[in-house]
Amino acid sequence: AVTHVHQFVIQEASVKRLCKTQHVMTVNGMYPGPTLEIKNGDTLSVKVINKGKYNVTIHWHGVRQMRTGWADGPEFVTQCPIRPGGSYTYRFTVRGQEGTLWWHAHSSWLRATVYGALLIQPREGTNFPFAKPDRQSTLLLGEWWNANPVDVVREATRTGAAPNISDAYTINGQPGDLYNCSTQDTVVVPISSGETNLLRVVNSAMNQPLFFTIANHKFTVVGADASYVKPFTTSVLMLGPGQTTDVLISGDQPAGRYYMAARAYQSAQNAPFDNTTTTAILEYKSAACSSDPIMPRLPAFNDTPTVTAFSTSFRSRERALVPAQIDESLFFTVGLGLNNCPPNFNGTRFTASMNNVSFSLPSNFSLLQAHIQGIRGVFTSDFPAAPPRVFDYTGNVSRSLWQPATGTKLYRLKYGSRVQVVLQDTSIVTPENHPIHLHGYDFYIIAEGFGNYNPKTDSSKFNLVDPPLRNTAAVPVGGWAVIRFVADNPGVWLMHCHLDVHITWGLAMAFLVEDGVGKLEAIEPPPEDLPICS
Ligand code: C2O
Repeated sequence: AVTHVHQFVIQEASVKRLCKTQHVMTVNGMYPGPTLEIKNGDTLSVKVINKGKYNVTIHWHGVRQMRTGWADGPEFVTQCPIRPGGSYTYRFTVRGQEGTLWWHAHSSWLRATVYGALLIQPREGTNFPFAKPDRQSTLLLGEWWNANPVDVVREATRTGAAPNISDAYTINGQPGDLYNCSTQDTVVVPISSGETNLLRVVNSAMNQPLFFTIANHKFTVVGADASYVKPFTTSVLMLGPGQTTDVLISGDQPAGRYYMAARAYQSAQNAPFDNTTTTAILEYKSAACSSDPIMPRLPAFNDTPTVTAFSTSFRSRERALVPAQIDESLFFTVGLGLNNCPPNFNGTRFTASMNNVSFSLPSNFSLLQAHIQGIRGVFTSDFPAAPPRVFDYTGNVSRSLWQPATGTKLYRLKYGSRVQVVLQDTSIVTPENHPIHLHGYDFYIIAEGFGNYNPKTDSSKFNLVDPPLRNTAAVPVGGWAVIRFVADNPGVWLMHCHLDVHITWGLAMAFLVEDGVGKLEAIEPPPEDLPICS
């Protein structure tokens, strides 16, 4: 195994998109940021130097961070932010994960431009569990604003309204041919006839689940969130923000140019969104350069049946180690709300919650530091195991239930406990497909469905044999998903909706996983350069 040493300088750069120049935060002046490539078993050591004007942290999305929670990155959860002029070295080893993950800023809305791919190739001396692809390409789907994203969220927080929607979706930072002023820079992915290309697709958009397809080519899905899956074919993918999908495509079509295209899957009702398609071009080496690319057909923005057909096709490739018995049976509602309490009662403000708790971050200590050092008053350990009231979650919810309470509540887990969480969408304000991400763990998604989860009948749908292992579950709109994991990684681990606007509104909670017995069941000591709050 190898240690890869990198330096990430957070700095402002001018980036021109849609004919306008913006000054945005970047890593090493690059947008999107550098791709990191390692093998399973390798160690990464990334020194982040903040030469920008905002506090920043970097999160290694999906990396299990076994006993290295200090390197996870969410600000005020596992560390205080790196202040302008400061630095911090993230050091961790990737074990037992192969495929595609990514990294992104985990502070304000900086991740809109501060993100990049983390490719994990098979462990030294091993190979893919499928024929070695001739080529690999990475496609980061994103969102671009004709504004500074930090200002966009600040303005939304001030008014309480929904933030402005983005001005373009992007592929590797480029909007593509269908947006203004973007044609010259459209991303081109090469392929040769007869060749296989492993495409690593990441949804790094801020607030938008996206469909992705390629004209005339079928995908063979082989992995997701850095776990292999039983291969299946499909012509369209749907990724919630945070999710990754690895697919094989074959150069089996007439040499030519084919659009690769992404567009919104919008399950929220009456919410504004951009229905434009972002494109890249799959180009055969021998294609005539003048030929117009062929456009694929994308599902309608509200095509939930296509999403369900896709999400229920995933099966883990390796033998799944799903806990058959559980020690903790949790039920969390996920949804929006409206807050009209003082001091915010100039009209109403959007809010969001899990089990009626709208999560607020501390500002004087990180949660992990407060836990390890026994600092009181930073958080409480009384996050509820179930919602305070049972109601018809996906029905017509009484307005009296629309307003959550704010709190910094953690749910405490004993080391090694076997945990089941039912994630239940609510129809408060609007039902919506929520990409729920858990830090520090992969979990099995053992079932999903629509309406209210019914413990009597829905447990018969559990797949305990070969469910997919993920770090982000797209909870069906107006429905539910059931996940299981073993709490074998001590620390404080955020779980949240990966639509950034929903984290901003409080759709988050955190697990506190206690140390077990002995050194190998305890979190490592904090690094010496860990940023503290002031
Ligand atoms: Cu990719 Cu807490 O996020």
